[in-house]
Amino acid sequence: MTSTTSLFAPVEADLRLLADNLKQLVGARHPILYAAAEHLFGAGGKRIRPAIVLLLSRATVMEADIPARHFRLAEITEMIHTASLVHDDVVDESSLRRGVPTVHSSFNNRVAVLAGDFLFAQSSWHLANLDNLTVVKLLSRVIMDLAEGEIQQGLNKFDTTLSIDAYLMKSYYKTASLIANSCKSAGVLSEVSDSLAEAFYQYGRNLGLAFQVVDDILDFTGSEEVLGKPAGSDLLSGNLTAPVLYAMEETPYLVTLIEREFAQSGDFDEAMALVKASRGIERSRELASQHVKQAVHNLADLPQSEPKRALEALSSYVLSRLY
Ligand code: IPE
Ligand code: IPE
Ligand code: MG
Ligand code: MG
Repeated sequence: MTSTTSLFAPVEADLRLLADNLKQLVGARHPILYAAAEHLFGAGGKRIRPAIVLLLSRATVMEADIPARHFRLAEITEMIHTASLVHDDVVDESSLRRGVPTVHSSFNNRVAVLAGDFLFAQSSWHLANLDNLTVVKLLSRVIMDLAEGEIQQGLNKFDTTLSIDAYLMKSYYKTASLIANSCKSAGVLSEVSDSLAEAFYQYGRNLGLAFQVVDDILDFTGSEEVLGKPAGSDLLSGNLTAPVLYAMEETPYLVTLIEREFAQSGDFDEAMALVKASRGIERSRELASQHVKQAVHNLADLPQSEPKRALEALSSYVLSRLY
């Protein structure tokens, strides 16, 4: 797997600052919530979303230092993402995140729901303080989309009639919307042209969709050790992702197993084996790779620079997580 360290080189120092700032922004007024937040920011995610915002900022602002408003946007983006993960882990009943126990398993569901709300509220406050109505609209829409995505996913559990299009729509809401809109917001803050801001949106959208498809493949091919979270849990909980949707097309018996919700012993293991034996994973890789190609294409009008090259490399990194 390619390391993100070399990839993020143009913004590495900025990202280090960001981690400290995030802990401070969350504030120390509520010891338990602070502990929950520190636990998460301390565990360290991949910081892909703030890295993209910072790279787009460096690619569009010619000053030596990234302006404070861009920096704040990167922080808000990671805060919204983290809030969504805290709530997602409650919904998914996941015990591990970023290689450490999740907030609800370290504390309890009540603390996790409050900690997630607290982070969403904090992000809205810092968002409003950017004093840019366009950006406020773009990112508050994301918070709506995140909830929409989780709701759609919850309603579609074990629904074997789910189409790839509906799956991609849900993935847009859950994952791509945040990346797309934070990319566009970076452009808005840099006062780029409308067409370039739209290109940034499309870059984030395509990258986000590829990222979710890859994450869904890893749920079949990865190990808990590498992923920092339990593997195989999507299918078990009835969350039908790209590899399964493709596999069902060629393996009708898989549909039977899913429709009876793995009620008989051995059903789940058999279903996992059927997905792995099918062309589902390969076709999902192709789907992710198409979106990565489009993402690179979306940056065509951005002038050449070191951060631009990093943004292009980042799209390949998304696919390289599979090998
Ligand atoms: C996890 O996102 C949720 C998905 C969209 C698949 P990341 O894989 O970016 O999580 P962290 O921030 O690195 O932990
Ligand atoms: C993560 O979604 C949360 C959001 C993208 C809002 P998933 O449930 O698909 O991802 P993991 O597997 O928990 O990271
Ligand atoms: Mg989850
Ligand atoms: Mg989930």
